[in-house]
Amino acid sequence: MDGGIGLPVTRRDAPGKVSGDAQYAADFPHAGCAYAALTTSSIARGRIVRIDTAQAERAAGVQMVLTHRSLNEGLGEETFAMKGGHMQSSFLPLTSDEVHYAGQIVSLVIADTQEQAEAASRLIAIDYDAQPASASMDDGDRVEKPLESKSIDVGNANAALAISPVTIDATYVTPAQHHNPIELYATSAEWREGRLLVHVPSQWVMGTRMGLATIFGIPAEDVHVECPYVGGGFGGKATILPHTVLIAMAARRLGRAVKLVVPREAMFTVGSFRPATRSRVRLAAERDGTITAVSHEQAGQSATIDHVSFAVTEVTARMYASPNIRVRESTVATDVNTPGFQRAPAEAPGFFGFECAVDELAVALGMDPVALRTKNEPARDPVGNLAWSSRKLTECFARGAELFGWSRRTPEPGSMVAEDGALIGYGCATACYPSASGPSAARIRYSADGVCIVSLSAHDLGTGAYTVMGQIAAEVLGVPNHLVRVQLGDSTLPSGIIAGGSVTTSSSGSAVHVTALAVRDALLRAAGGGELVDGFVVSPDGSRRPATEVLAECTSGFIEETGVWKPDSISDKQMQNGLAGGMAFSSALGKYATYSFGAQFAEVRVDPLLRTVRVHRMVGVFDCGRIINPRTARSNLAGGMIWGASFALLEETQIDRKRARFANTDLAGYHFSTNADIGEVVVEMLDGSDTLANPIGTKGVGEIGIVGMPAAIANAVYHATGVRVRKTPIQVEDLLV
Ligand code: MOS
Repeated sequence: MDGGIGLPVTRRDAPGKVSGDAQYAADFPHAGCAYAALTTSSIARGRIVRIDTAQAERAAGVQMVLTHRSLNEGLGEETFAMKGGHMQSSFLPLTSDEVHYAGQIVSLVIADTQEQAEAASRLIAIDYDAQPASASMDDGDRVEKPLESKSIDVGNANAALAISPVTIDATYVTPAQHHNPIELYATSAEWREGRLLVHVPSQWVMGTRMGLATIFGIPAEDVHVECPYVGGGFGGKATILPHTVLIAMAARRLGRAVKLVVPREAMFTVGSFRPATRSRVRLAAERDGTITAVSHEQAGQSATIDHVSFAVTEVTARMYASPNIRVRESTVATDVNTPGFQRAPAEAPGFFGFECAVDELAVALGMDPVALRTKNEPARDPVGNLAWSSRKLTECFARGAELFGWSRRTPEPGSMVAEDGALIGYGCATACYPSASGPSAARIRYSADGVCIVSLSAHDLGTGAYTVMGQIAAEVLGVPNHLVRVQLGDSTLPSGIIAGGSVTTSSSGSAVHVTALAVRDALLRAAGGGELVDGFVVSPDGSRRPATEVLAECTSGFIEETGVWKPDSISDKQMQNGLAGGMAFSSALGKYATYSFGAQFAEVRVDPLLRTVRVHRMVGVFDCGRIINPRTARSNLAGGMIWGASFALLEETQIDRKRARFANTDLAGYHFSTNADIGEVVVEMLDGSDTLANPIGTKGVGEIGIVGMPAAIANAVYHATGVRVRKTPIQVEDLLV
């Protein structure tokens, strides 16, 4: 068996991507296609009082100019994804003269060529009535709105904080950040006899299909969304971006295919982003390190057009054993495009402050940070007293410390110096991510030629779904790897789940598993009984024959089954909605508390004079349940850790506060890690199947890698320099003190 579960099978999508055969959304040809260019608002809030499109309409090749004046389509109601719909925002540009944020789409020019569309879009003249606006949650007039429903109180944290001998009270901030995948947002849309074909980079083709069907008032079957490959998603491609609706509408009006590729600058405002956060963390402990109170209050940046919150405190409240826990969430509305999902949306920023505070507590106690965390490991969920489906965080820390060489650490800041004089810092942090799952379907065809085709409309964000879905089928059916084919990212296939929330393998992988079992059972029925062992049917009498021989005897020459899987906590009704393209997830808190865990370590080297910080090496040890493919899982986790380093030291969408807009809207101004910024990255995954989570025993891998890294690095910077930086990115000037 060279292609089953647990093997480091190489990526099925790799040859196509390397050779250029793989077609990304914007690569699909559409006969007679016209091209679109966007104009976006130069003000952040107010009204369009005049928009003159006459010159643009007369320009060479122009077919159509859409503005708020021309859009009167009578579109169907579709809501914001975080309110049960599919849209990235509840506001659809071009539906009114109002401007809610800088960079909002205010017109769309369609022409015969891309160049003509762009040239004409520059001829549109717009006058605005601009109102005062703010894009920063720190601007004075911004009101913080508490989210009562997100509060958690166990015991009395305030009382414990008042009487405990050792306490920490600190506030940490993280800035707005943008996903910036290599593959730009794009949409091609074409109508054929009332049916809509869309190519769009998508983490959710079924949701996109359902949403577009609602908007255009047509049956879901009449919408075909195709996206076999995603060139980086990170959450930004999980929902329907408004321009996709506008392009589909333009194509319908023109009676011609239309394609838009969003330029990099507009990527910052026509989609979503990771909002800024402010966290106040208070911790209390006895002198022996027993934590007596955990209090975490987080405020997150939201938008005036959409109330969005990413409540990390549901997770941080469950990290350590404490008799007293108090968490609060609030939002601060700003005049920006709607914030959205970005890898570990709540956890990546929220764990920065929380895990820095735990480090500060260790310093205050004079205790080793690993020992402090291990001492306060909770036997059960400290909020709801649920049993963990699995939680091996202590083992993660023990193994991580060993791999990292944590015992070499001398606790005094600045006490470790490299041969070249650089200050060495060692830091660590806990990582955690909820492990949810949702309903999914899959189809498997196993043919007499030995080929096994696995088909479902799940997605591979480049992280391994093409590979692992095949491995799960291969494991059950005993099919060699070179005979496995996997089809994903097409809404005509059986319904896969959204590629979000780290749910793909647990959900769609479980669907592939039950479907493979159904194929196996059908095969054995056809063979008149027996067992399937390594691709051979073994009869009760001990005789063996290849499964392909049995398949050849089937009239059709193959066996095909379609199977569905859902978590127990999802009702049949929720399942039907989920399979149709609605959002249907289990909670991580069901009968058990189900989370992925990790222990993350960083070594930084700080120049003693220049105070530049280098990430010398990172170690992450994870408890993510059963690992279907150690190669792709490792890459996924390492990618998250690299992003975590980027988060700690480089990433910030700067805000021009006077003009209330994002300032560094290109890849020259928006900094993130490149190869030269990253030293050694070591990833290990603990063995162990979490069969309480789902039948294949997996927990989420996709997002946890980033979660603890920013704090581990900040804690390492403190250890190197003695300077506690409570914000990201940590920059040279923060250390010049
Ligand atoms: Mo992920 S941020 O849930 O797409």
